[in-house]
Amino acid sequence: MAGMTDTAFRRLVKRHGGCGLVVTEMVSSEGLVRGIDRTLEYAEYTEEERPISIQIFGGDPGKMAAAAQIVEGMGADIVDVNMGCPVPKIAKHNAGCSLMKEPAHAASVIAAMTKSVRIPVTVKMRAGWDDRDRNAPDLAKRVEDAGAAAVAVHGRTAAQSYSGSADWDLVAEIAAALTIPVFGSGDCIEADHVIARLREGVDGVLVGRGVLRNPWILAQAADLAAGRPPREVTLADRGQFLLEYIELLKHERIHDGPQTLDELRRRRRPRAASGEGLMDTAEVRSSHDRWVINKMRALASWYTKGLDNGSHLRTAINSTDSLTQLHDLIRAFFVLDPVPA
Ligand SMILES: Cc1cc2nc3c(=O)[nH]c(=O)nc-3n(C[C@H](O)[C@H](O)[C@H](O)COP(=O)(O)O)c2cc1C
Repeated sequence: MAGMTDTAFRRLVKRHGGCGLVVTEMVSSEGLVRGIDRTLEYAEYTEEERPISIQIFGGDPGKMAAAAQIVEGMGADIVDVNMGCPVPKIAKHNAGCSLMKEPAHAASVIAAMTKSVRIPVTVKMRAGWDDRDRNAPDLAKRVEDAGAAAVAVHGRTAAQSYSGSADWDLVAEIAAALTIPVFGSGDCIEADHVIARLREGVDGVLVGRGVLRNPWILAQAADLAAGRPPREVTLADRGQFLLEYIELLKHERIHDGPQTLDELRRRRRPRAASGEGLMDTAEVRSSHDRWVINKMRALASWYTKGLDNGSHLRTAINSTDSLTQLHDLIRAFFVLDPVPA
């Protein structure tokens, strides 16, 4: 999920169990082909996340095939194509959900990719563009014929964005019609929702926002599937998760683009060629701290939903400007022991 499921977050969720496959944030095919650092960072993963699927977006068959080869070269297990994103920035470039408006072209993108790589090519789509054009069944069949190894369907149209509810009947209809695995997506917020959907004839369930609210949802669903009561998650567990996420992020690269301290210094201070005006180490560190805080703010907007006084925590995180404060308020909110002096 763009902006959310970075490698640090995926690792933590995977460590809790119950997670069969993780997918990266969507990555631009154009950026991959051009070797843009920031794009490559979105595609980063660690060995403990395997099996890993790197999701790419784009609408040009040649570039998507080339990007798929890059993804394969990066060692990914699967390359997934985003045909579901309704965000205008993506959709207006003939990518994301706008591919659903041109199913023959969308299938040609998949055909070009499957001819170019050995790893499985999978597709994520929505129910259709809008209510008049709920063409996921047709598109799913076309991409299957073009060589796709699996399809995932979020049962809402692009026009719906996130309103209404996901149409799982449509997902089940597609699952019944295709021979390749079909996964469903949409509105599994509790572990028992996941189990209920799995019983409706799909080969798997994708959980998005539910994991952002409760990173244990997959482990709890696995408990239920095994006939066990779902594990209990204490307030302290929830606080600990945030502290571990911060800890991992502190060691991640700076996702602003620059990769090294030197590069960051030069970019922020154009006159740095002469050595004049270089950012000092403290400035660089505070820039990275800000990035970590922003990532936490993004997660907090989901993570705090449903928590008692969650809105207070969200507001507090949004007004924090140091990692020390962030730690303190998480420790206080989740009643964790203070760090020993
Ligand atoms: C913040 C956010 C970012 C998302 N980013 C992606 C993405 O990069 N690729 C993708 O296929 N779907 C993305 N989605 C859609 C989800 O994968 C999922 O299909 C949708 O949210 C419905 O499932 P849910 O109710 O389990 O969240 C995103 C959703 C959200 C809320």
